[in-house]
Amino acid sequence: MGNPSYDTATARGLWGWINARFPLEKMLKEHVTEYYAPKNINVWYLFGGLALFVLVLQLITGIFLTMSYKPSATEAFASVEYIMRDVEWGWLIRYLHSTGASAFFIVVYLHMFRGLMYGSYRTPRELIWIFGMLIYLALMAEAFMGYLLPWGNMSYWGAQVIVSLFGTIPVIGDSLAEWIKGDYFISDITLNRFFALHVVAIPLLLVFLVVAHILALHEVGSGNPDGTEIKKYKDANGIPLDGMRFHPYCTVEDVLAVGVFLLIFCGVVFFAPTMGGIFLEPPNFEIANPMQTPPHIAPVWYFTPFYAMLRAVPSAFGTQIWGVIVMFAAIVVLFFLPWLDRSPVKSIRYKGWIPKVALALFAVSFVVLGYCGMKPPSGIFPLLARIFTGVYFVFFLGMPWWSRWGRFKPVPERVTHNAH
Ligand code: HEM
Repeated sequence: MGNPSYDTATARGLWGWINARFPLEKMLKEHVTEYYAPKNINVWYLFGGLALFVLVLQLITGIFLTMSYKPSATEAFASVEYIMRDVEWGWLIRYLHSTGASAFFIVVYLHMFRGLMYGSYRTPRELIWIFGMLIYLALMAEAFMGYLLPWGNMSYWGAQVIVSLFGTIPVIGDSLAEWIKGDYFISDITLNRFFALHVVAIPLLLVFLVVAHILALHEVGSGNPDGTEIKKYKDANGIPLDGMRFHPYCTVEDVLAVGVFLLIFCGVVFFAPTMGGIFLEPPNFEIANPMQTPPHIAPVWYFTPFYAMLRAVPSAFGTQIWGVIVMFAAIVVLFFLPWLDRSPVKSIRYKGWIPKVALALFAVSFVVLGYCGMKPPSGIFPLLARIFTGVYFVFFLGMPWWSRWGRFKPVPERVTHNAH
């Protein structure tokens, strides 16, 4: 079925000509001007749009970096120096991209936390969450492979550590690690394939997954901080009574959010692009040296919670496999969230103190684990990492039980919203 308002014989003007041949107006209506979002969505609902903005920023700055970068072990490091010093605005493009990677994870972590607070992953939004988790995995792969490209010493040793984790898998481990590297060690061949994956394959996958994520969202409709369904109450024209048009009411808020985001983001890009060694680690200002490990190998901050869990598990019988399993389990368990949560209400607003304390403990555990993962595994840190790895897993594996405990407040039928 074409667009009923236009047919090829009578369509007038360029707009009509296009719409008789391509459902542009239909799509704009369905996804923008006549998509109804709940009136009560708050600041936590801005991070999805921001994630989309950062994705585009990364794609654009990435394209420009690729114009001057050389994916070869002998030239990569120098080509990044060349971008920083000689290419017009190269320093800006590179800092936008490297800061953008960290910003992406900050925005996505806040976006996921919103999901935990308001139960956004629960029926009928399970698939939105699953697509989100696949995006998160793809994002981790993208960041990991991108980090090798400058061919700094932490790029080299970070990749070495992560790839060797695959080597701990019984039977197939060694061959798998070799297959990933394409060589017996991290080499020019590894750099080339990571480049291909970072620049073409994973960005394509990410874009595809984000489209699927948003199509799934628009199929069931957006959730809201009350955990109600606005589609339940519609007017005579089938328009949700508690909804507002995405455009202009949400777009104007998203534009404001991008403005605020850019203020903070540019502050970092211009004044603290390395963020004191957190966004860009000091050993990466030196070229990769297979003969010398950095004094302390740690991945970039967004991986450190999982890295801390890996190290929290003692290596028994000379194998790290249990640590590796715990680390992967910490990510895999997130996929099952829609089925682990048995709370009678979706939103934290209507829950009692037990789920509130549990969520707060989870947030604390993630931050503390992240900090432990950045520090050398000595002193108090291994103990802290063990305790909070426990808290992390109790939160998820205990959820089918604790999510039902305590008193819950009645959820209103319609959204609670004070018009400004
Ligand atoms: C590139 C990364 C991502 C982009 C561009 C993106 C984009 C969006 C957008 C635009 C929305 C609607 C606005 C909003 O609710 O904030 C949304 C909703 C949602 N996202 Fe994402 N997202 C990303 C990653 C993720 C991840 C990693 C997860 C979780 C694992 C996730 C879970 C959700 C859920 C559950 C909703 C529905 C919220 C609701 O309607 O109540 N997203 N996403």
